[in-house]
Amino acid sequence: MAVERTLSIIKPDATARNLTGAIAKMFEDAGLRIVASKRIHLTPAQAGKFYEVHAERPFYGELCEFMASAPVVVQVLEGENAVAKNREVMGATNPAEAAEGTVRKAFALSIGENSVHGSDSAENAAIEIAFFFSGLELVG
Ligand code: PPS
Repeated sequence: MAVERTLSIIKPDATARNLTGAIAKMFEDAGLRIVASKRIHLTPAQAGKFYEVHAERPFYGELCEFMASAPVVVQVLEGENAVAKNREVMGATNPAEAAEGTVRKAFALSIGENSVHGSDSAENAAIEIAFFFSGLELVG
């Protein structure tokens, strides 16, 4: 199995409810190591750039507004099959469909305010990590 890195975001609905530690613990308990972490408040333009792949989707404006509504915690998680493992711990996008024991089952409020983001492929993880972090900030 390959050791990978993936980009995780603890979203505004979760930071607002003081869930950063609880969510990070779920990732750590699954064997992922947090090799970089910072709390930032995105501007709408920065959120728009990050999610530009979804620019044509009907919820794009709402998604960007939400992501800029309060601080987020961006983290790089490292481990074997980190991309897939992170998404497994996150659970389905829609919390109504998320499995027991997942972050979104435990904490997500709706399909939009769903507490966490995780890269969907190793290729996108590299792009998303570079969006938020310089190489010097990644400490394995
Ligand atoms: S995924 O994981 O990319 O397959 O999920 P997808 O359904 O394509 O959704 C992509 C991101 O858009 C968010 N989303 C929404 N936001 C607001 N309103 C609605 N209706 C909505 N539907 C989807 C969803 O939370 C995903 O955010 P990220 O941060 O990528 O997980």
